[in-house]
Amino acid sequence: MTDDLELPSTWPTTEPSGGIRIAVFGTGYLGATHAVAMAELGFEVVGADTDPHKVDALAAGKVPFFEPGLDELLEKHLLTDRLRFTTDLAEAAGWADVHFVCVGTPQQKTSHAADLRFVEAATRAIASNLTKDALIVGKSTVPVGTAEQLRHLVAEVAPAGLHVELVWNPEFLREGKAVGDTLHPDRIVLGGTTAHSEALLREVYAGPIAEGTPVVTCDLPTAELVKVSANAFLATKISFINAISAVCEAAGADVTVLADALGHDVRIGRQFLDAGLGFGGGCLPKDIRALMHRSTELGAHRAASLLQQVDEINMGQRERVLDLAITACGGSVLNRRIGVLGAAFKPLTDDVRDSPALNVAAALHLRGAQVTVFDPEAGDTARRSFPTLSYATSIEECVEGTDLVLVLTEWDQFLMADAGRLARLTSAPRVIDARGKLDARAWRDAGWEFSGLGRAA
Ligand code: UDX
Repeated sequence: MTDDLELPSTWPTTEPSGGIRIAVFGTGYLGATHAVAMAELGFEVVGADTDPHKVDALAAGKVPFFEPGLDELLEKHLLTDRLRFTTDLAEAAGWADVHFVCVGTPQQKTSHAADLRFVEAATRAIASNLTKDALIVGKSTVPVGTAEQLRHLVAEVAPAGLHVELVWNPEFLREGKAVGDTLHPDRIVLGGTTAHSEALLREVYAGPIAEGTPVVTCDLPTAELVKVSANAFLATKISFINAISAVCEAAGADVTVLADALGHDVRIGRQFLDAGLGFGGGCLPKDIRALMHRSTELGAHRAASLLQQVDEINMGQRERVLDLAITACGGSVLNRRIGVLGAAFKPLTDDVRDSPALNVAAALHLRGAQVTVFDPEAGDTARRSFPTLSYATSIEECVEGTDLVLVLTEWDQFLMADAGRLARLTSAPRVIDARGKLDARAWRDAGWEFSGLGRAA
């Protein structure tokens, strides 16, 4: 995956459309982007969150995380007065017609299951504070069966006499491309809608639908499962190529060339066949674990064991990179100076949740290496999670005096770095390309001892 900065095209709307008032509950990666995108589509929007820091930042025009293109659109719609943010959930619930639930569903601390506290709290806050008929639209990623439970909750707490529907409309946005993915989604899934709620949501998504985005209507459990299955499939594809990369390594084949050749088959496709350090982030890892857990609960044991393998292969990639580093350092990393390029779980984000890059950096540190990390955007978030690592402010500073350099996140600026100049800064020019994206020949020609996953030594 490259980190070319494709700014998404926006909508030329100038007038508020439709008169539908939209509230978005939860203003993290998903909710903040959704709120801004709804304003861009022409609606009056309030973003509601219990975290005053997020709300204050957004209200001041500052996105509290790095997401290309979002700052500009936020500023634009704070100025059009179509968009505001509040910590007063009750006020937002009383004001809007359509209520999107965009709160997090993290992994529980004590199991693989999803923690549904935030989804339940948001739904309760919305339903109990409604002042008129309303549509509640779940967007958060939840285990199948959750929406049905939430319908019972809504029936219990919503004021009597109001017509309230709850439907599911999963979100498929990728971090780093969130604005484009939200404004121009590749599909819109509507689960559990009636004729009334389907018509309302078709009005909300009229812009993307007019562009040709397909709409899939289905029941609640199918809508919930579409999202987790999509993530499980992507994770499986990555673990497949990573498993094959070990075969390539043992057989002297090259997994990057192999992936290109596989990708020409339209039934397979080239995307998500980049072998390397594996997947991380706030979605794929916890979503496949939650699906594993739910599949077991439902008695679908084969699905659970497939996902267990996917998870194990993925986590094993971190060990493989660690082993490569130990081998490159002659059997031990103790007291070796190691430069780590990349901390984010992928390029174009400052998100370090379950980041394979930071995980490997921390493991090297634990084994006694002197680790210095550089990431173009994720330095601050990484420092908050792992304050004991050292952080550099440039590639050069990170690489200077090192015995080994690891490229753990494939930011363009690492791929385009001057390998010759960097080689001269090191104590010993050794590099491990854990994302399979460097030009191996150019780095070798520049004097680097080069190794990677799934490539002949
Ligand atoms: C993912 C889904 O793509 C998105 O549809 C869903 O809504 C949320 O989860 P995201 O977490 O933003 O999005 O990241 P994604 O681009 O899917 O990458 C996930 C991880 O897989 C990253 O760590 C990335 O580096 C890794 N990856 C991706 C690979 O290791 N190899 C690949 O070929 C592709």
